[in-house]
Amino acid sequence: MKKARIGVVGAGGIGAAAHLPAVTGLPDIAELTAIVDLDPDRLATAGATFGCENLYSDLAVMLEEQKPDIVVVATPPHLHEPLAIQAMRAGSWVFCEKPLTGSLESADRILAAEEETGQWCVTVSQFRYAGGSRQVRDDLASGRWGRPLVGVAHTSWYRGPEYWDIPWRGKFATEFAGATTTQAHHAIDLLLWLMGGQWLSVSGIADTLSRPIEVEDASVATVRFDGGAVATMLSTVLSHNQATTLQVMAERATVNLDTLYMPLLEEWSVRQVDAEGTTQLVTDWSKPEEPVQAHRAQLANIIAHWSAGEQPELTTAEARSTLEFLTALYKSSHVGAPVARGEIVPGDPFYTALDAGGPTRKARHHG
Ligand SMILES: NC(=O)c1ccc[n+]([C@@H]2O[C@H](COP(=O)([O-])OP(=O)(O)OC[C@H]3O[C@@H](n4cnc5c(N)ncnc54)[C@H](O)[C@@H]3O)[C@@H](O)[C@H]2O)c1
Repeated sequence: MKKARIGVVGAGGIGAAAHLPAVTGLPDIAELTAIVDLDPDRLATAGATFGCENLYSDLAVMLEEQKPDIVVVATPPHLHEPLAIQAMRAGSWVFCEKPLTGSLESADRILAAEEETGQWCVTVSQFRYAGGSRQVRDDLASGRWGRPLVGVAHTSWYRGPEYWDIPWRGKFATEFAGATTTQAHHAIDLLLWLMGGQWLSVSGIADTLSRPIEVEDASVATVRFDGGAVATMLSTVLSHNQATTLQVMAERATVNLDTLYMPLLEEWSVRQVDAEGTTQLVTDWSKPEEPVQAHRAQLANIIAHWSAGEQPELTTAEARSTLEFLTALYKSSHVGAPVARGEIVPGDPFYTALDAGGPTRKARHHG
């Protein structure tokens, strides 16, 4: 198989911790072709650590000189759209950090770029590729546990005030949104995927309760799905008891995940109530698997599709669905009523920004 030549843009927190090791951890199918970062020290350190000599401060120059097959975008969120579109127009697939971007309007521009260029932009969704997730999803989708009825996705994390010392964090213009989109994105995206049906409407409250930031530090939401299922979601960075908890209560079993940052196979469990009314652990659903580095697993999946000339699994259309859900949650918080799937269209202020732009920001914080 031809190796995919990969350029990584952004050698900061997640670039250095997850993406660069993911590329170099797949030596049979991937080659680290170049690294791009504006910060010369980070660039030099990343080059030395990951054995790459093609170091750039400008994506355009890297694209011109290296013509990579895949570009990883691991920059702050407000740069995802322009960098992803630039890379696709140069002929590369893109593997872009979450959140894909900050509005449905922006996601639609990325979708248009996919159509215009014939390239694909895949959003990071590492919980879907982490240990156990695919096994649970396959068994739920097979119907062996019956229809999903009730879902839970609680992301209770802690970020102290110093977390927002990095200038792009905490601001609508550069981070777009807070705990729900930045931290809880993983659990929310995973639950929406596991529940199977489409979400139909969401009712939410998002607010900034404690941290000195523009974006929200907590939200709660209730969701209705196609077919009648319901779910509850809690997303916060204010919890001193850190946990990520997910449940899918299906007709004949309940699937549970208790993790923090990265699901492992052993953190999943499935329970059933037997004829005597006693809860029993179900043990025949999982197959042993090697420990999974989820960014690497998703990258390997993308490369397999790229190599086969096939459409990848998680295209912009799929990522847009999660983004639409998040947008609807914020809109619901603002208008104080449930928001339906498909309701936020051009002309709606929430179509152009997760926080609907300036006037709404003021209304939300001082209303
Ligand atoms: N999937 C996850 O688990 C996870 C975890 C953390 C962050 N993230 C996401 O990853 C993204 C980056 O977050 P981070 O914490 O790594 O940020 P960071 O600030 O630590 O790193 C970003 C890097 O991008 C570089 N950069 C900025 N503009 C650039 C440009 N125009 N060209 C090239 N390089 C540029 C910066 O110099 C910096 O080194 C965000 O979207 C964030 O939400 C995802």
